[in-house]
Amino acid sequence: MYCRHTADAGKLIAVDGVFSSKVTSPARQMVPLAKKHGARIMIDEAHAVGVMGKNGRGTAEHFGVEDQVDLLMGTFSKTFASIGGYVVGDTEVVTYIRHQARTVLFSAAIPPAARPPVIETLRLLQAEPERREHCGRTPPDERGLRAMGYNLGTSVTPIMPIHIGDQAKTLTFWRALYDAGIFTNAFVPPGVRPAVRSSDRCNGDPHRHGH
Ligand SMILES: Cc1ncc(COP(=O)(O)O)c(C=O)c1O
Repeated sequence: MYCRHTADAGKLIAVDGVFSSKVTSPARQMVPLAKKHGARIMIDEAHAVGVMGKNGRGTAEHFGVEDQVDLLMGTFSKTFASIGGYVVGDTEVVTYIRHQARTVLFSAAIPPAARPPVIETLRLLQAEPERREHCGRTPPDERGLRAMGYNLGTSVTPIMPIHIGDQAKTLTFWRALYDAGIFTNAFVPPGVRPAVRSSDRCNGDPHRHGH
């Protein structure tokens, strides 16, 4: 395979702190990998900020590797119930991004109305940590669902995926929960890989599955 980069070229590992529908957080595994290959590392904490870490800063804080991560980023569109986002890193790098990133240069600023929810969420994260502590899976929920035969995978993050496998069944399940007053998110292709019926399976990719 043709590769344009030499071994000593600048390298950046960009990874989600928590993948929305996959098993566990890669923060801990990726930090040693970055060190081994002399790469910088950027963690997208979109699904972790506000829910993981002692102060809600995300997986890097949760796994105690914040000082070994070069860039942390997140969105305000999930926990913060707004729009926009943030990047945290060395001043030099953040200044570079502010002057070079297409999304900063050619997009309008965050609307004023989007700011208060972000500030208020930050206040709540600090003032009411019990909200974060109660967020996510509880052992009785998890045990109960497993006992009922649901496949929950091995995730340890506050996102508890239930792997159904078939798209129609997933949407029927989502609707039944909605009608029962329980809000969940259905993950269907292209957000996840399409489920493969066992009769369609070939030797190609034994790991393909859906949620
Ligand atoms: C991992 C991750 N990063 C960033 C984003 C960007 O979110 P937004 O464009 O809403 O700020 C998303 C959205 O789902 C996401 O899943």
